[in-house]
Amino acid sequence: MLRRALLAASASHRVRGIVTAAPYTRDVVTRFVAGDTADDAIGVTRRLLAEGLLVSLDHLGEHTADPGQAAAVAEEYVRLLGRLSADGLASGGRAEVSVKLTAVGLGLRDHGEKTAAQNVARICAAAADAGTTVTLDMEDQAGVEPALRVLAELRPDFPDLGCVIQSYLRRSADDCAGLAVAGSRVRLCKGAYRAPDEVAFTRHSEVDRSYARCLRILLGGDGYPMLATHDPRLIKIAGIRADAVGRAPGSFEYQMLYGVRPAEQRRLASGGARMRVYVPYGSDWYGYLVRRLAERPANLAFFLRSLVSTG
Ligand code: FDA
Repeated sequence: MLRRALLAASASHRVRGIVTAAPYTRDVVTRFVAGDTADDAIGVTRRLLAEGLLVSLDHLGEHTADPGQAAAVAEEYVRLLGRLSADGLASGGRAEVSVKLTAVGLGLRDHGEKTAAQNVARICAAAADAGTTVTLDMEDQAGVEPALRVLAELRPDFPDLGCVIQSYLRRSADDCAGLAVAGSRVRLCKGAYRAPDEVAFTRHSEVDRSYARCLRILLGGDGYPMLATHDPRLIKIAGIRADAVGRAPGSFEYQMLYGVRPAEQRRLASGGARMRVYVPYGSDWYGYLVRRLAERPANLAFFLRSLVSTG
């Protein structure tokens, strides 16, 4: 119930206004977001790479309603990749980028999918020049088919373009089977959006079982699995499964969010695993923050304190 209410709040302009103005909100934001600027993102990237972690940078923002803004988001990524390359942080995919299709135009009234694909292609070209990769984030279930189409359209030119599969969707095991092919990069997560029962598992246990099914398919296939979860049980299952199918440590990676289980991130990396941290930056952090609060009641104390103190 609470999770549903929070996810509904993430789409409300009125709640957004209250939360972004609240005095304590900033404390919560700095825990999950690198900062407002590319300088902040690069500073955090440098620090994480020095600690033996890998990074995926996300420029915060979604649901762009204007083609000029969509192009500006693509330009921000191109500039960021240029800076990562110049600073020696991108080579070999050490720092890559994650892109939301609605940030680069998917939701535009006219030619949204085409615009998004063109913008992603620009970002992929800049990433290739920098020696690194791009991964397409997955948003709500309406975006799944367009994202998979954009992926299929661009992979002939950019074979290492990756995508996200969310285990809460009933279709995901089939999607994983289709994507577990040579050269394909798939980030597997549980899913942070709402979806109707017909298309999504609603019970945590079902989502977790689906995750375990999907990770078995990906680890048993020929692609490059990116196992994005903080769940200790699933991380353990992944390790056991990877050993069972003879996966070398460099042939898959674990991923976690910036600010979540940092000690576990370091433990996995120091044990020889590839461990990537998803690092968001930018001033449009509202939707991202509310999704983080929705998945962990412990963070809600901060959130509620911010709301009360606006009163
Ligand atoms: P879950 O939230 O069920 O937690 C399981 C267990 O993990 C907990 O019981 C606890 O033991 C541990 N845990 C979780 N959070 C913790 C914390 N803060 N502190 C301590 N322990 C904690 N979603 C999406 O819909 N589209 C996307 O594109 C992406 N992209 C993405 C990239 C990356 C790199 C990650 C890690 C995640 C995403 N997500 C996402 C978010 C994802 O779908 C999901 O909402 C969160 O990762 C939370 O799910 P968990 O797998 O961590 O399990």
